[in-house]
Amino acid sequence: MAEQLASHHALITGAGGGIGLAVTKAYLDEGAHCTAVDLGATPPAELAALMVRHPDRLQYVGADVVQADSIAAMVAAARARFGTITVLFNNAAVFDLAPLLEADEASYRRIFDVNVKGLFFTMQAVLKQMVADGAKGSIINIASQAGRRGEALVAHYCASKAAVISYTQSAALAMAPHGIRVNGISPGVVDTPMWAHVDALFARAEGLQPGEKKKAVGLAVPLGRMGVAADIAGAAVFLAGDASAYITAQTLNVDGGNVMS
Ligand SMILES: NC(=O)c1ccc[n+]([C@@H]2O[C@H](COP(=O)([O-])OP(=O)(O)OC[C@H]3O[C@@H](n4cnc5c(N)ncnc54)[C@H](O)[C@@H]3O)[C@@H](O)[C@H]2O)c1
Repeated sequence: MAEQLASHHALITGAGGGIGLAVTKAYLDEGAHCTAVDLGATPPAELAALMVRHPDRLQYVGADVVQADSIAAMVAAARARFGTITVLFNNAAVFDLAPLLEADEASYRRIFDVNVKGLFFTMQAVLKQMVADGAKGSIINIASQAGRRGEALVAHYCASKAAVISYTQSAALAMAPHGIRVNGISPGVVDTPMWAHVDALFARAEGLQPGEKKKAVGLAVPLGRMGVAADIAGAAVFLAGDASAYITAQTLNVDGGNVMS
């Protein structure tokens, strides 16, 4: 089968994490040029190994999406190497939880800085260069099932992901006249480094054994298991390419049936 993304340059934030890494691999498999972004100055081992296999189509850029100058440098470095970015997998995020009456401002700031401010201004910077270059393309913002309904222990994170769904809708309407589509993906529970952290936080908050929460959320999924990062890759390729040409302003649940819409 023909590669679906051969004409594209994709920028992936949080590319050193579980889902970002799986999507970077999938985009490379579909022929895209990729700029993989994460916090470190040098790529994590798995990205470094991918760069050895794809030296002409993959570059790594260290950036913090919370910092405006870092976003500007990231987009400039991406464009300088592979030309206009035509696909953004806007994925970097952090998780935290606390009982509502203890959910503090430091946690709020960190979650909203990365998950909302970082996501919005990364999207805006990429859209500015798409519009300036007259390029059509696709933005994919990573939300969460947590953005669909609140959770007693997870108020800040749930609210941040609800904001992602809302920004996706506004940006889709603003960019439709430019031929740029903006969609979201809403994962359910996915077995990544983030979930190791989530499991530890729930264990402390709910007095559970390590691994107990993870097992319970997996069993509760209608399809009977937690997702793996590669489960998100199919939707990420679909929303990036021409197969989804008439889809914009949507946030697609990729969650084994947890949320129905
Ligand atoms: N794992 C799940 O169950 C799950 C469920 C729903 C939604 N999500 C969402 O999917 C996305 C990916 O999650 P994951 O499970 O792969 O997480 P992860 O923790 O494995 O990866 C996240 C990556 O983002 C990077 N990052 C964090 N802050 C950053 C910043 N300021 N600038 C640049 N990079 C930064 C981290 O270094 C990390 O590599 C996130 O948006 C997350 O909220 C995950």
